[in-house]
Amino acid sequence: MDLKGKTALVTGGAKRIGRTIALALAKNGAHIVLHYSTSKDEAQKTATDITALGVKCRLVQTDLSKSADIAKMVSELKKDSVKIDVLVNSASLYFKTPPESADEKQWDTLMDVNLKAPYLLSLAIGREMVKGSGGKIVNIADWSGFRPYKDFMAYCATKGGLITLTKSLARDFAPKVSANAVAPGPVLAPPDMGEEEKAAIAKTTALGKWGKPEDVANAVIFLVENDFVNGIVLVVDGGRSIV
Ligand SMILES: NC(=O)c1ccc[n+]([C@@H]2O[C@H](COP(=O)([O-])OP(=O)(O)OC[C@H]3O[C@@H](n4cnc5c(N)ncnc54)[C@H](OP(=O)(O)O)[C@@H]3O)[C@@H](O)[C@H]2O)c1
Repeated sequence: MDLKGKTALVTGGAKRIGRTIALALAKNGAHIVLHYSTSKDEAQKTATDITALGVKCRLVQTDLSKSADIAKMVSELKKDSVKIDVLVNSASLYFKTPPESADEKQWDTLMDVNLKAPYLLSLAIGREMVKGSGGKIVNIADWSGFRPYKDFMAYCATKGGLITLTKSLARDFAPKVSANAVAPGPVLAPPDMGEEEKAAIAKTTALGKWGKPEDVANAVIFLVENDFVNGIVLVVDGGRSIV
């Protein structure tokens, strides 16, 4: 797909990796529908940076844990004749669920945002893509979706589910829609992570370092622009999963 003049919806696009993905799509000529939930100021700043690249940017605010809000967002875009050519599901929650304290509510919270929301969005937008001229779906998973790490049982399960969902979408929406996933390794530490822990994590990758948001964004661009990849998981983890 040539991104020039196409429209891409990026969830969780206000800051961090989602912002970098949105900017990369915009740099390649796509108009952006930039989704955010609570980061209004960051979303406005990112929208300004996107429009400075000469493309349009529309901001949408939605709590993706609420299916009614997702349906409202999709119907508002439809009402305004916004045709989505590329959907990037990047919004996500990340927190520990150690077995001693994990509970059902945490499971539901993580599943709703990390797996159910991409499912509902892919269904609603994928159907429109199939009716129209097709499109691309890219889900941002995690290397832990196929090699879970300790104390994040529910989070890892959401990402494993997202990988399987991606493959199902790739089959069920073919041939007009392709669906692929990116599985990043350590790219951007949570804000509360200390330098010592960051250094220890860097050592766990074969390349001995953290990646950059641009490494993930480049993978997204590759998956969108290439018209013969469908149902793959592109692992961008510095070799974390092979050591
Ligand atoms: N960071 C890494 O090193 C790493 C590693 C592996 C995989 N990943 C994956 O890469 C993607 C981006 O990572 P990241 O670290 O940049 O993500 P992040 O900062 O943890 O979260 C991205 C965005 O998700 C949105 N979000 C959370 N709950 C939401 C809700 N209920 N409704 C709507 N949006 C919600 C937030 O939007 P608002 O701020 O607007 O509320 C947040 O800015 C994620 O899918 C993550 O799992 C990241």
